[in-house]
Amino acid sequence: MKKTILITGATDGIGLETAKMLLAQGHQVLLHGRNRSKLDEVQKSLGALSNDGQIEGYLADLSNLAEVDALADAIAEKHDKLDVLINNAGVFKVSETTTPDGLDVRFVVNTISPYRLTQRLSPLIGSKGRVVNLSSAAQAPVNLDALAGKARLSDMDAYAQSKLAITMWSFALAAKEGAPTIIAVNPGSLLGTKMVKQGFGTEGKDIGIGARIVCLAALDDDFSSASGQYFDNDIGQFSAPHPDALDAKKVSATVSAIEAVVARSTH
Ligand SMILES: NC(=O)c1ccc[n+]([C@@H]2O[C@H](COP(=O)([O-])OP(=O)(O)OC[C@H]3O[C@@H](n4cnc5c(N)ncnc54)[C@H](OP(=O)(O)O)[C@@H]3O)[C@@H](O)[C@H]2O)c1
Repeated sequence: MKKTILITGATDGIGLETAKMLLAQGHQVLLHGRNRSKLDEVQKSLGALSNDGQIEGYLADLSNLAEVDALADAIAEKHDKLDVLINNAGVFKVSETTTPDGLDVRFVVNTISPYRLTQRLSPLIGSKGRVVNLSSAAQAPVNLDALAGKARLSDMDAYAQSKLAITMWSFALAAKEGAPTIIAVNPGSLLGTKMVKQGFGTEGKDIGIGARIVCLAALDDDFSSASGQYFDNDIGQFSAPHPDALDAKKVSATVSAIEAVVARSTH
């Protein structure tokens, strides 16, 4: 059955490859990007391979929570229902690590914006829909001061903490009544995307490894009862995430810290 699927960060890497695969399967894909000309270019090239109305493009810089809200509004204006949200957009090494609000860009783009977007789009997704959150094998204990913009971290620490934090909130939201199926997925390590080439100086592995597992997590029956779980594509199975993601107190403290940032940034 044809599904409507929003992919954040669909202008490059795993997100773009996932979009191509889902379009080839006949689904309607809502492409999100942060750069107008890059988004237009991707929309044009993928449009040539798809049917009328199969693609829509949405622009938003996810380092700015006001733009996350505007993105959710724009989608809700055109759609009553969203079958799948894929929170794929992510950053590792950046030239400017701090947002104008004083927050670390990695926490905002990789953790807090997807949390806000998921909450804002939940009425459209409903309990029958799915949310796929891009986690990583890199997960490190979250420094809540850093998440709140009160302490600075190295690139790797910020990235790994942001990825544990998205895994933590995936589990917390999945446990709520009426929540969609929410799955955290490590797509595979060192896949050859822009992030990996620039961040680690290596060509990396086939991006398709990541895109294929994201498509399965989004649509396959094997993942339909996997809400609140972590799939580790480095080993090809569901697995235990960092122990902090299974610690109810730590998860609750992290979610409260995320909500405090959201409240501060969106009032
Ligand atoms: N590659 C790997 O081995 C690997 C391993 C584990 C997890 N992951 C995760 O997989 C996801 C995709 O990463 P990737 O490797 O495909 O990296 P990528 O090629 O750099 O793609 C990242 C995507 O996120 C978008 N993005 C970045 N900052 C943004 C912002 N402020 N607002 C909106 N969109 C923004 C990028 O937009 P532009 O096109 O404009 O740059 C791009 O579309 C990330 O969450 C990453 O952490 C990747």
